[in-house]
Amino acid sequence: MRGYLPSLLAVAAAAIGPLGCVDIVHTDQVQALGGEAPGVGPGPTHRPGQPCLVCHGGQGPASFQMSLGGTVYDTQGQSAPAEGVQVQIEDITGASVTATTNSAGNFFVPLDQWQPKFPLLMQVSRGGVTQQMLTYSSREGSCAGCHSNPSGPRSPGPIYVNASQKP
Ligand code: HEC
Ligand code: HEC
Repeated sequence: MRGYLPSLLAVAAAAIGPLGCVDIVHTDQVQALGGEAPGVGPGPTHRPGQPCLVCHGGQGPASFQMSLGGTVYDTQGQSAPAEGVQVQIEDITGASVTATTNSAGNFFVPLDQWQPKFPLLMQVSRGGVTQQMLTYSSREGSCAGCHSNPSGPRSPGPIYVNASQKP
């Protein structure tokens, strides 16, 4: 019987170890995003282009939780945000939600409004122009988790409502 104790302790240590690492990674991710931009306090128009769910995904520091959040820009290759864009997201069950971008190009879906079942399909549209994501997102609630700037092997680049060419 006594032989079991050390191995049980080893199992307990292994179970605690990775959890500790996750917290450190999360703290680093939050810190890497830096402070608030001058003149824009925490709220619907702050931190455009950032992966909202790093902070609004339930691990803090924000208490307000989202299931989805991101930023849409106006014209491919330019940095102006796109206001009034309808962001439509459909989940694997066929349920869908539409959110509208604000003056910073930001949109979000509060967690208590919708908890989608991944994978998801999305499109953005405004004034008769629609850009559709052709592949499914299988995991990320933050659009910027994939759509980081600049585009490259690991990113399709920012989301534009007026995109001249598909990546
Ligand atoms: C680095 C962390 C961080 C990131 C990234 C971040 N936020 Fe926030 N946000 C906060 C904090 C902290 C607050 C303060 C209120 C709270 O605790 O929920 C806040 C507040 C908000 C609020 C007001 C919530 C309320 O009702 O009190 C909204 C809306 C919001 N953020 C939207 C966004 C959007 C959209 C994005 C992505 C484009 C984003 N945030 C990215 C940390 C962040
Ligand atoms: C898991 C990674 C991933 C996530 C998360 C993701 N995308 Fe995408 N998205 C892509 C890739 C890769 C492409 C390019 C290929 C394609 O169209 O499928 C793309 C293309 C697009 C396009 C078409 C091209 C363009 O810029 O007009 C739109 C629109 C789009 N995504 C919207 C969104 C929105 C809105 C969100 C967040 C709700 C989001 N995506 C989250 C990977 C992702």
